[in-house]
Amino acid sequence: MRKKIVAGNWKMNKDLTESMSLVSEVRSMVRDEVRHDAEIIVIPPFTSLGSANKLIEGSEIILGAQNCSTEDSGAYTGEVSVKMLNSVGVKYVLVGHSERRIYFGEANEMLAKKVTIALNNGLTPIYCCGETIEDREDKTFFQVVEKQITEGLFGLHEDQLQKVVIAYEPVWAIGTGETASNEQAQEMHSYIRKLIEARFGDKVSQAIRILYGGSVNPKNAEELFACEDIDGGLIGGASLKSRDFVEVVKAAK
Ligand code: PGA
Repeated sequence: MRKKIVAGNWKMNKDLTESMSLVSEVRSMVRDEVRHDAEIIVIPPFTSLGSANKLIEGSEIILGAQNCSTEDSGAYTGEVSVKMLNSVGVKYVLVGHSERRIYFGEANEMLAKKVTIALNNGLTPIYCCGETIEDREDKTFFQVVEKQITEGLFGLHEDQLQKVVIAYEPVWAIGTGETASNEQAQEMHSYIRKLIEARFGDKVSQAIRILYGGSVNPKNAEELFACEDIDGGLIGGASLKSRDFVEVVKAAK
């Protein structure tokens, strides 16, 4: 049985004060209302990580970061290293979100380095993949995702790969209100799991967790999370409101 994950990616939203309110609200709602043991991850901006870490102490909530450097330390102005993330209690790190790929030119080769440096420092990468609307219309979406998965992850040893979390997020579904249908999402998740099985075997492919992301909300979450190969979600917009986020968490039974 794979333990489900619900992760809230706040993106470039919430200053320090707003972050503290949101974390406090989520914390108390989770304590009072959530009765199952999905992993609940909040992913605030860098500026709120240290304070959020103190606020979640003693709770079920786990801290994630939105990005990390490919390098350990040194003259890389503006970058944040995995050691720095460790020092503020971060356990998970997003790697290769489509917004990083599209707006900041992050390509699979660089992302493979981020995955490796995260794993080597005890962080769990959440490796994001997903096709654009053009890829979907051209019917090249399986090839596009296969390339992202193989180039970003298949240089790993199987013990390492098993620790990675994958997030399938079709770009056309992110922030658009248009979710992939349960069938479309399940079809891609199963495809990704088969790719992993072909390369790393059944044990690894059955252990690895694959999240769906793209306009997940309290209304559609339960059905998506009930699909065989969907192990939870990466939530953007709906993670910015405590009530909505906690309802999505509750759907991950
Ligand atoms: P969304 O974002 O839920 O707002 O569509 C998901 C994501 O980008 O991780």
